[in-house]
Amino acid sequence: MNPLYSRIVATGGYLPERVMHNAELEQMVDTSDAWIFERTGIRSRHIAAENEKTVDMAEQAAHQALQDAGLAAEDLDLIIVATTTPDQVFPSTACLLQARLGNRGAPAFDVQAVCTGFIYALATADQFMRSGAVKNALVVGVESMSRIVDWSDRSTCILFGDGAGAVVLRADAQPGIISTHLHADGAYAELLQVPEGREQLTMQGNAVFRMAVRTLGDIVQETLSKNDLEPEDIDWLVPHQANIRIIQATADKLQLPMDRVVTTVEHHGNTSAASVPLALNDAARRGCFKTDQKILLEAFGGGFTWGSALVRWS
Ligand code: COA
Repeated sequence: MNPLYSRIVATGGYLPERVMHNAELEQMVDTSDAWIFERTGIRSRHIAAENEKTVDMAEQAAHQALQDAGLAAEDLDLIIVATTTPDQVFPSTACLLQARLGNRGAPAFDVQAVCTGFIYALATADQFMRSGAVKNALVVGVESMSRIVDWSDRSTCILFGDGAGAVVLRADAQPGIISTHLHADGAYAELLQVPEGREQLTMQGNAVFRMAVRTLGDIVQETLSKNDLEPEDIDWLVPHQANIRIIQATADKLQLPMDRVVTTVEHHGNTSAASVPLALNDAARRGCFKTDQKILLEAFGGGFTWGSALVRWS
């Protein structure tokens, strides 16, 4: 039997209609557009409407990806949703999404790895495909971060936004997803968390920043080494969109010019698990990627968790 791999055949994305510019934050906390842009690269973020739920955003992104793939919901034999901000404790967002899409019977479950959630979900779906059990999978990253942000804390509220991104994976004899690399270290939980009994996130920004830069540098190196590649073999970097300075540090490690790095952080801030698929969707729809190009996806987030996926575009 031919070895089975997974291939990204379609992407989708959704951002809520409401845009919150830095100027609006200037009215809420002691900050400035200049400070936010200089320290983070963020100009604006999208905020879900009051009655707009996490599953609503997931549904929009999923529809777009399914349409792009030319697949009907019933063709899916796996649905994975990465989210830290589900609407309900249960059912999972994946099950709520499955019902909305009209798929019945496929396994559907959530993955919670905060900002690394999409990479974890993608790696999980890839393993299902390599086992031969699944032919068509939907992987969604979606977050309503605005619901867990402390809007009076200037050191965190400037960073986050809401949105959803999705990919459809299809089993193939050729990769597709070349390799995935996942890590976690729970010893750092307190640096970025929603503390027990609380509803809003807290972060030690400076320490998180330093860890993110170091860890993402390491995961890039690990991905290259495992695949016997040099930095110049990578055509595109699709990083987690948290802070432009973290992205630049990873690009430097790869010696990649910034025009080979997909950056959307300016327009939607840190959308946690939605950030990598939103950036991927943005670049795919702009026609950036060419067949056989190698794309490195990476993310870092609360937990800490971090991971990467090396993808051959087709
Ligand atoms: N506007 C103006 N000043 C602000 C501010 C804001 N929104 N937020 C913090 N400051 C102030 C601080 O109070 C501090 O003032 P002080 O020197 O008088 O004490 C000063 O700016 C520097 O704070 P610091 O936290 O050292 O800034 P920084 O350069 O590290 O930038 C972050 C702060 C949050 C932008 C940065 O640490 C960061 O991006 N961290 C990683 C966040 C992240 O990516 N998290 C998610 C990971 S998935």
